[in-house]
Amino acid sequence: MNDAAPNAAPQTFYLKDYKPFGYEVESVKLTFQLSPNATKVHSAIRFTPKADAEDNRFFLHGEQLSLISAKIDGTPVTARLVDGGLECDVPRRSFLWEAEVEIDPAADTALEGLYMSNGMYCTQCEAEGFRKITYYPDRPDVMSTFTVRIEGNEPVMLSNGNPTGAGEGWAEWHDPWPKPAYLFALVAGDLVNHPGSFTTKSGKDVELNIWVRPGDEGKCAFGMEALKKSMKWDEDVYGLEYDLDLFNIVAVDDFNMGAMENKGLNIFNSSCVLASPETSTDANFERIEAIIAHEYFHNWTGNRITCRDWFQLCLKEGLTVFRDAQFTADMRSEPVKRIEDVIALRARQFPEDGGPLAHPPRPEEFQEINNFYTATVYEKGAEVIGMLKRLVGDDNYYKALNLYFERHDGQACTIEDWLKVFEDATGRDLSQFKLWYSQAGTPRVKVSEEYADGTYTLTFEQSTPPTPGQPEKAPRVIPMAVGLLSPNGDEVRATEVLELTEAKQSFTFDGLASKPVPSILREFSAPVILERETTNSERAFLLAHDTDPFNRWEAGNALAKEVRVAMVLDGTAPDAAYLDALEKLVRDDEQDPAFRALVLSPPSQSDIAQTLHERGHTPDPQKIYDAAETFTQTLAQQLETSLPRLYAATTVEGPYVPDADGAGKRALNSRILSLLTRLDGGEQAARQYASADNMTQQYAALAALMKAEKGEAQSQAFFEQWQDDRLVMDKWFALQIACAAPEATAATAKELTQHPLFSMKNPNRFRAVMGALAGNHAGFHHASGAGYQLLAENLIALDSVNPQTTARMCAAFQTWKRYDSKRQAQIQTELERILATSGLSRDTHEMVSRMLSA
Ligand code: PHE
Ligand code: ZN
Repeated sequence: MNDAAPNAAPQTFYLKDYKPFGYEVESVKLTFQLSPNATKVHSAIRFTPKADAEDNRFFLHGEQLSLISAKIDGTPVTARLVDGGLECDVPRRSFLWEAEVEIDPAADTALEGLYMSNGMYCTQCEAEGFRKITYYPDRPDVMSTFTVRIEGNEPVMLSNGNPTGAGEGWAEWHDPWPKPAYLFALVAGDLVNHPGSFTTKSGKDVELNIWVRPGDEGKCAFGMEALKKSMKWDEDVYGLEYDLDLFNIVAVDDFNMGAMENKGLNIFNSSCVLASPETSTDANFERIEAIIAHEYFHNWTGNRITCRDWFQLCLKEGLTVFRDAQFTADMRSEPVKRIEDVIALRARQFPEDGGPLAHPPRPEEFQEINNFYTATVYEKGAEVIGMLKRLVGDDNYYKALNLYFERHDGQACTIEDWLKVFEDATGRDLSQFKLWYSQAGTPRVKVSEEYADGTYTLTFEQSTPPTPGQPEKAPRVIPMAVGLLSPNGDEVRATEVLELTEAKQSFTFDGLASKPVPSILREFSAPVILERETTNSERAFLLAHDTDPFNRWEAGNALAKEVRVAMVLDGTAPDAAYLDALEKLVRDDEQDPAFRALVLSPPSQSDIAQTLHERGHTPDPQKIYDAAETFTQTLAQQLETSLPRLYAATTVEGPYVPDADGAGKRALNSRILSLLTRLDGGEQAARQYASADNMTQQYAALAALMKAEKGEAQSQAFFEQWQDDRLVMDKWFALQIACAAPEATAATAKELTQHPLFSMKNPNRFRAVMGALAGNHAGFHHASGAGYQLLAENLIALDSVNPQTTARMCAAFQTWKRYDSKRQAQIQTELERILATSGLSRDTHEMVSRMLSA
């Protein structure tokens, strides 16, 4: 043990070292005697040595536990406390292990294990939090049934599975489904429920509840409907039914992530479940619906079939993200969902894949697994499944999935198991496809074309830049969906999926009357960066004519990027033809409002920075900001005469309904309002603010006003109206920083950290402020370095409170090598300062060292 050495590199865990645990866990019985500072946990666990075990060392994980007593078959034993747990001499036959430990939930600000949030007890065990509750083989391949007794004075005391008894001061629960410890959950507190019910396709009645703090009852109805829709959808699309009599969701205010799929007792960050028209925006509603679906879908993809080890995390996360995206596409709009997902992938995953934190969807080593709940594991993990589905076709996809559930129900699996069901269901060899799981980095695909005598040839060249630890990359299987349009805009070849497998490959199309316009990477059929020399007029043509809605948006997006890049590099005025194309589209009432809103939303400034970087330029954040401002101002002026009419025509009247249709219209209306506000001095926005009866319109008006520096009075009014609502206050904190001018961003954020409602203990609030700082591209990267400094200071302060959230937010620095040497030096200084902090957590240590070593 060398834990005395300050900030010594922590232990690294490797996929190749996997070894099964030497014991079967037959059953687990836990008794909790709740007390804020001294909760006692008694465990009674039946272990049976495995006959064929390679290793029969009896090691149980345990952290921050005070061991009171340990017994084997009723006889006290002396356990040896070792680094990260305990060891004990045990018999070579089945035996009952009992331990009593004491823990301190009120002191647990890391929000991992058993902790308290607003006086309520709750747990978070994924990935390795159960070891802070009791001594246990805390690894996902150890599965067992759990029986839980909770003793305490809390009005509501919940655990996994079904209730088996309750009385004054106690409640008992039993979960009949064997599960890994990371799915254990306990909640106790003063809670009220919003009830519901669902009858499964085989006729079983399931009781549903959303549990919240008194006062939040009015914010549960939407979540309940989303839950029922998810249950029905999983039956209809995947044939998967719920498997307990009861499904509980609990909302907690202090939570590191979005939500957690604990068996039968999902725990949610309150921001991801509580919704009401007055307090939530359309975007909030959509996200809540998706997260409720995501956690529910985990019941099969994650819980019934779990991961063998944490390297396989994308087995459950990639698949469940893929499933929730299918659900949202079905509930709302398929093209809009796809466009939103690609925007998010490029904003979060591409920078990760192209920087010092790049790792494959299935990493092969880690120091702290909490650092691998990443866009790569989740979102790229889902993209890989989308590619697989495209390659094998829909029927084969569902055939393989049926085989997966049939073959692996009740098991802890690997990516190899997953790919094998596809191979067995389709007869296809997936060994090359598997590279998507082991190689990091975003492939670049260079496209060139040729046309002669009616034959059109597309040539693709793929390559992937080096990533940490992976200098060389082999070619991957890339499904490339392509369609061809004739110059008059007709589709002459419907979408076809070309399979790229080599470094360089050509495909021909015969019998064409004239040189076609290609529509490549339709639906964004693979997570790659396409490189193709083309003209803005061809992009405008595709924006007008492509039959693939994703690529129509993509053409507009590419055009917007080209125009902005040219403005930044050459200081040119915004391209007139592009402005005309936008104007035409905005006025075209035949077009879906949601689509128009998306085309009208400019690429983000960090997206422009990323594009410049990919093309070998050093991005200047201030110039990118200035170009964005000029562009928006010019667009507003171009549309000047039609803006009031467009605003009126897109205003949604009548009671607020959070459906996709209304959301699309409101999104377009908000875009128009923000343009209008640049010209009318904020009159219309002030009127909208004063009359809004829902958060979407209230927030849109406030945002437009604040961006135009005309929102002081409304911001004050907003604060007074909502100061008691934590979730709305998060919006208020974030918006001020998001709207600040570059030179004022850090100062605004700093001032907000002094606000009485700022708190290091609530991750939502911390993220509202520091996330908004990092998200304001020109403000965060302001030449003064004040943004870097402020973030680093706050991360250092947060690390001893909440390492997980600190480490995750360190990723704001991951793009540092994109910028000029002065900014790089400033960031390096901050990263080194963080790394030198004494007692730095393992989480943050790993993230910062990875960023520095690149
Ligand atoms: N497993 C959760 C999900 O994806 C995320 C999570 C991870 C929550 C770790 C808490 C801690 O739904
Ligand atoms: Zn998940």
